[in-house]
Formats: sequence, C-alpha cells, structure tokens
Amino acid sequence: MKRNILIHPDPRLKKVCAPVPDLSDDLRRLADDMLETMYDAPGIGLAAPQVGVLSRLIVLDCVKEEGAAPRPLAMFNPEILAASDETSTYEEGCLSIPDQYAEVTRPAEVEVEWIDRDGNPQREVFTGLWATCVQHEIDHLDGKLFIDYLKPLRRQMITRKMVKLKRERARASA
Ligand code: NI
Repeated sequence: MKRNILIHPDPRLKKVCAPVPDLSDDLRRLADDMLETMYDAPGIGLAAPQVGVLSRLIVLDCVKEEGAAPRPLAMFNPEILAASDETSTYEEGCLSIPDQYAEVTRPAEVEVEWIDRDGNPQREVFTGLWATCVQHEIDHLDGKLFIDYLKPLRRQMITRKMVKLKRERARASA
C-alpha cells in the first residue's frame, strides 16, 4: 500500500528516530509499503520518517541501468561503520523536497551494517550513487536533510518554496 510522503518543513522530518526492536509483520509491511511508495514516486531511496514513522528504517534501490534487475534493499537500524577520506559530489534531491536539487559532497565509500527484512545482520561496502544514497537516507533517521549541507540562504530559499508548495497543495485539496 502506497503511503503519503511528508513534505519539508515538517517537525517529523527533524526528529532523531528510535531503533527498531524486534522485527514484526507490521514493520515488514511498512518496509514493503515504503518500497512501493519509493518506486511509484519515483525515487531511489526513502526513510521511515518521510512517511511519518519515527523508526530507524530505510529502503533504497540505486540500480539505474535500463533492463537491469532491481535491487530493493530494506535496512533496519542501519549504521555506518566506516567512511572513506575520499569524497564524491552528487546532485541530490529528496522526495520530501520535490523538484529541488543541489550538489552535496560526502564520503565516496561507506561500510554499512543493518538488519535485513528477514532479521539477518548484513554488512556491505557501498560506492558511487549507492554510497551517497545510503548516507542521505541514514541522515533522515537523525533528522537531517540534504539542504542542511547548503549555505543558510540557499536553504531558506528552498524552504520558502516548499512552504508555498504545501500551501498550494492544501488549497487544491480543500
Ligand atoms: Ni531524502
């Protein structure tokens, strides 16, 4: 089932999320719903607070090559174990900040540990777009958005646009 994606500014997007205790059917359903919502958007990553759930869960799939098999990943309690000194810069966007993009510099390589959908611990080194995306999504779990990396003026400009967008949407659905 598709879920509604919160748009910045929203206090729920600024919260530090709680670790997921034991996996339950409800949490697995949430992960499936988030993947469906992400693919439908379309996007390459989504964090639970973006659908209003303040738990440490992210989903992502950064496979872009046409015709390549999808690789949907659901990560419960993801944690960055190590990050490279080498950095890379990508133009980032966010489903909670529609149509706004900006370059963000992050470690080029990160080793991440998480619990998968079946409750098994996983560990993997991510590079390229996967590395950027997984860091962007884990930031969401700590109440951090990609615009927090930008200069204050740019951030305020984007936030003002989002306030306006939310007002227009509220009016359209009234
Ligand atoms: Ni995002």
